[in-house]
Amino acid sequence: MEKLVITGGKRLNGDVYISGAKNAAVAIIPAAIMAGGVCVIDNLPYIEDVASLSSTLNKLGASCERIDKHTLRVDSTGDITTYAAFDEVKKIRASYYLLGALLGRYKKAEVALPGGCNFGTRPIDLHLKGFKLLGAKVEVSNGIVRVNADRLVGTQIYMDQVSVGATINIMLAASMAEGTTIIENAAKEPHVVDTANFLNMMGANIKGAGTDVIRIKGVEKLHGAEYTIIPDQIEAGTYMIAAAIAGGDVTVQNIIPKHMDSLTAKLAEMGVRVQKHDDSIRIISEGRLDGANIKTMSYPGFPTDLQPQMTALLSVCNGVSIVTENVWDNRYQYVDQLRQLGAMITVEGRVAMIQGREKLYGAKVSATDLRAGAAMVIAGLFADGVTEIDNIRYIDRGYEEIEEKLSNIGASIKRVEV
Ligand code: EPZ
Repeated sequence: MEKLVITGGKRLNGDVYISGAKNAAVAIIPAAIMAGGVCVIDNLPYIEDVASLSSTLNKLGASCERIDKHTLRVDSTGDITTYAAFDEVKKIRASYYLLGALLGRYKKAEVALPGGCNFGTRPIDLHLKGFKLLGAKVEVSNGIVRVNADRLVGTQIYMDQVSVGATINIMLAASMAEGTTIIENAAKEPHVVDTANFLNMMGANIKGAGTDVIRIKGVEKLHGAEYTIIPDQIEAGTYMIAAAIAGGDVTVQNIIPKHMDSLTAKLAEMGVRVQKHDDSIRIISEGRLDGANIKTMSYPGFPTDLQPQMTALLSVCNGVSIVTENVWDNRYQYVDQLRQLGAMITVEGRVAMIQGREKLYGAKVSATDLRAGAAMVIAGLFADGVTEIDNIRYIDRGYEEIEEKLSNIGASIKRVEV
């Protein structure tokens, strides 16, 4: 077991280089098994979820090898098994993309239900509804989802609610269905667009990704492709918020500034100086910031995956701030941990009311999930004294070398064997 030990109060200065997007990587790696050939995927983040998916693909019979720290070669030539109900699969929620990929290529799949973060229920009913509309039979029993279809036939699918996972999963299956599928009320996140672009590089015919309506013209076969995934919008936002809370002058490099617009606007409103450049954003933060109100929404709204990190920042801003979590029904489990550091937050259902404090005080806290862990790091950068964070395997699932990146800009943070 390891923990992160942070001594707060250090200002941050310098450059942080952002890795590839976790939520694009965990969709594109499963999608590669549809190629029936060789895919080379570059700019992957060096994180647990990528390692776990690579191991899963190898168990399925695809050969997945790391060419270098950030590049995978996935060879899905020849047949692979459609039975993915082993433990590795249960480790991460994104394993559910194997359903869409295998259903698309083989018209059948058996995948263990997803694991992943423990905030709120994490149903996949919208995914399964999409598969049924494409003509698949769906059965869920003993923690395994079984789908199969004599034929997959394109159709019109209206999403009851915006869902990143369901949009991507339906896009995977539909890309090799007969005829045209129209997904309406589709998710527009950057990683939805990135997955559509990758599928098109493999020979799919997908238009409209990034808008509410995605049109997929099914093709008989896909082929291998080389692809570089987009930078991680949430990792970038995490470091922008870290710079804001710690104070200093930090440039977040290798990003797509457009993806950061909702956070950039909010930080500027709070008194942070934000300078946008072609592929970087400079954050200059001096003195105490003003609080603000946040409502999480699907892209391009304020991302739910930055809600815990922003709540940590708001805990030390002027005045009272209100955070409304509109995407997940229980994403405040980390608030108890923030309270250990001195934060004053009351939670009523989806709304958190934050009374800004002048100080936080270092304490022993736990990461309750991936982004909650990032929020503890952010609060620890500010808190007086030493903050120890355990359960950091959650953080390692989604952040490449977080302590190196923060130490490089002046934070006092180290990973300690417990
Ligand atoms: C993706 O999860 C991300 N994970 C999540 O990031 C992120 O919080 C979420 O999108 C929203 O942006 C990955 O991409 C691997 P949804 P996903 O389907 O696809 C409900 C992180 O920290 N819903 O958009 O599972 C659901 O309960 C992770 O990187 C259904 O009801 O999210 C939620 O309330 C955490 N039925 C809402 O929709 C379904 O079939 C949005 O979920 C699917 C979802």
